[in-house]
Amino acid sequence: MRVLVVGAGGREHALCWAIAASPALTKLWCAPGNPGTAEVAENVAIGVLDIFELVAFARANRVDLVVPGGEPPLVAGISDAMMAAGIACCGPSSAAARLEGSKAFTHEICDAAGIPAAAWERFEDAHSAREMVRRRGAPIVVKADGLAAGKGVVVAETVAEAEAAIASFMEDGSLGESGRTVVIEECLVGQEVSLFALCDGVHAIPLGAAQDHKRVGDGDVGPNTGGMGAYSPPPALTPALEQEAMTRIIRPALAEMARRGTPFRGILFAGLMLTAEGPKLIEFNVRFGDPECQVLLLRLRSDLLLALQAAVDGELGHFALKWSPEPAIGVVMAARGYPGTPVKHTPIGGLAAADGVDGVKVFHAGTEVLDGRLVSSGGRVLTVCATGSDLGAARAAAYAAVAKVEWAEGFYRSDIGWRALG
Ligand code: AMP
Ligand code: GLY
Repeated sequence: MRVLVVGAGGREHALCWAIAASPALTKLWCAPGNPGTAEVAENVAIGVLDIFELVAFARANRVDLVVPGGEPPLVAGISDAMMAAGIACCGPSSAAARLEGSKAFTHEICDAAGIPAAAWERFEDAHSAREMVRRRGAPIVVKADGLAAGKGVVVAETVAEAEAAIASFMEDGSLGESGRTVVIEECLVGQEVSLFALCDGVHAIPLGAAQDHKRVGDGDVGPNTGGMGAYSPPPALTPALEQEAMTRIIRPALAEMARRGTPFRGILFAGLMLTAEGPKLIEFNVRFGDPECQVLLLRLRSDLLLALQAAVDGELGHFALKWSPEPAIGVVMAARGYPGTPVKHTPIGGLAAADGVDGVKVFHAGTEVLDGRLVSSGGRVLTVCATGSDLGAARAAAYAAVAKVEWAEGFYRSDIGWRALG
């Protein structure tokens, strides 16, 4: 098979790495890719939102399967465009990608399908939003309806904080159109885990679970990020709870999407809160998480490419994936300044030594080669991952590898896995 992965982060490096291991693969490209993907695929200089050029490339190179990594091309319709050109794409249509693109849409699906989620209301005017916040009191959650790259959610501890978020999103337009409509939600309490499912429109199979670390600093302090580290499996999501989440959240959502004529194909990522009343949905994403993907794929023992193809072909009914019993952990190394403005083009060394630690795999994200040297080029720069006989051993290996990376301007959290390990 001839495969094109779309994206340039650690997630896409991991996707390329796993797909490259498939005996069914004959040729792999990554657009635009990074120096890590270049080790296992041929990088193609086309941006993730240049859908017209991606389709032309896929057609000209007889690509059999396109695998988009992130949500921007999915929401923009890459699957629709590829399908229209007769090219298979393992990702939802733009209509189905609304599960990530609009929080209000997701709530409507949950209400229609009886999926447990936070109580919510949608507002188009700031005055009514403020009234509701004053009536309900804090804590309360204010969310921009549209995509906001992780900046659209405020878990407000006080009414004043909630009102400030309403003013910022709805009146100051801090997030542009994404924040003109807001969703205000009940604040759920519990442990948060991410559950992934591979879907073919009708069937869904579990694709592993992980716990992310969204805050930038040790002890979960500081601003939100795309994710500073992850581990899998999270002990808090017992097999019984995972089963419950598949039955009460993932499968009803899939059935409701199909009933509406917009079946969901691809990877459905459920952000769950494990509340006293059982798992409740916080949000859906329509793709793998980053860095969750990196740790999940380290544990996958089945052929990823065949699984993605089965999802596209509607053949997941009898498909099951095999997993390593060994846990995996991933530590993100980010550039100083992240999640604000990261310092760029600072030299990175020691990756061969880091990769050489037993059980370790280093994935590239924001790196580039400049004048023959590897330098940083983004906020999240590397995901240093490891497996081990238990989570403690995996964590020790990952941090031993981090210590071998020579990068003065990089930083990382030193407590990835703390909820499971203390
Ligand atoms: P989201 O972008 O929807 O994932 O939200 C970002 C983060 O805000 C989540 O990972 C949760 O930690 C938190 N969050 C979102 N919605 C709620 C809620 N209803 N109750 C409590 N925390 C929430
Ligand atoms: N790490 C969270 C995400 O990819 O959305």
